Amino acid sequence: MPAGPKHSRFILEGIMIKTIEWTEEGVMMIDQRHLPTEEQYPVFRTYEEVAWAIKAMVIRGAPAIGVAAAMGVALGSRNADASDADTFDSTMEQVFDTLAATRPTAVNLFWAIERMRSLYANLRRAGASIDDIRNELAAEARRMHAEDVAANQRMGRFGAELIPDGSTVLTHCNAGALATAGYGTALGVIRAAVESGKRVAVFADETRPFLQGARLTAWELQKDNIPVTLITDNMAGHFMKRGSIDCVVVGADRIASNGDVANKIGTYGVAVLAKENNIPFYVAAPISTLDMSIGGGDEIPIEERGEDEVTHVKGMQLAPSGIHIANPAFDVTPNRYVTAIITERGVARPDFRESLRNLANGGV
Ligand code: MRU
Repeated sequence: MPAGPKHSRFILEGIMIKTIEWTEEGVMMIDQRHLPTEEQYPVFRTYEEVAWAIKAMVIRGAPAIGVAAAMGVALGSRNADASDADTFDSTMEQVFDTLAATRPTAVNLFWAIERMRSLYANLRRAGASIDDIRNELAAEARRMHAEDVAANQRMGRFGAELIPDGSTVLTHCNAGALATAGYGTALGVIRAAVESGKRVAVFADETRPFLQGARLTAWELQKDNIPVTLITDNMAGHFMKRGSIDCVVVGADRIASNGDVANKIGTYGVAVLAKENNIPFYVAAPISTLDMSIGGGDEIPIEERGEDEVTHVKGMQLAPSGIHIANPAFDVTPNRYVTAIITERGVARPDFRESLRNLANGGV
């Protein structure tokens, strides 16, 4: 396994993965649909285009779609008809509603839109000029981008302490730089452990049907020179039983106040296998992923995506035409399978109702 310092050099390059950026022309995103074979950076110039990009998975991952939505709001304000205040208000309502209707599960999206909506309302109440409102909304979206990277780096430092030197970590989906404004949540923990000098190797589940593990996690970790072994989803139990996995670290799309965790479909199965094999199961997520308004995971809306994602891979048909398909994009892991939840404010352990409340209220 390569030594620590060599990793660190590559990790610095890894931080430079530009998932999303505010530019004068619009919002630039790496088009994740074409990774790992092509790196394309289209610019989205209207809020409708940003909403489309979120729906179409040009950008995905809970914190990343939150930042995208915030930038979409800023773009919406920039392009909105401001000939009179009522027209501006009603256009902005449409902007908020359109962006909120893109994907239902990741709470970061709604958290980001609410933050932008409340800033907008405050500025309007204070009688700010249209130009000031536009500038302030753009500045807020950029602040959210910077805050997300900082939160991930902080979360990484807390999480790194849980990763033993010389260990192999299994992860599911992509909770890396590509799923955030940068650095990543689950992959941020792995990056921070490596940066602290620990030798860490990763097993990445391919994550059917959208293949975020094969296409994105494998790409990111390879770029950072962190040893990664790609496996199909049905191999995880085999490697756990053999003693090849020391811990599991995944991200989250929404965490209920009792510690139930919604994350990419397949996470629940990984968590059950981890418990059966006495392997710690860690969830890394920013405070913006906590939904303290719901008591448990049953209340989390689960996105159902299109049939083509299951029947086809890159346009190639795998299943008989007309077959009935189910395609829930997320599942909920009950809190009893979760060893700890790593946030930028510290690590929550059971009883999650109490530990998450403390973190949500600001304490470490
Ligand atoms: O459908 P996706 O690709 O948006 O799902 C992403 C995940 O499930 C991630 O694990 C989660 O958003 C955490 S990202 C830091």
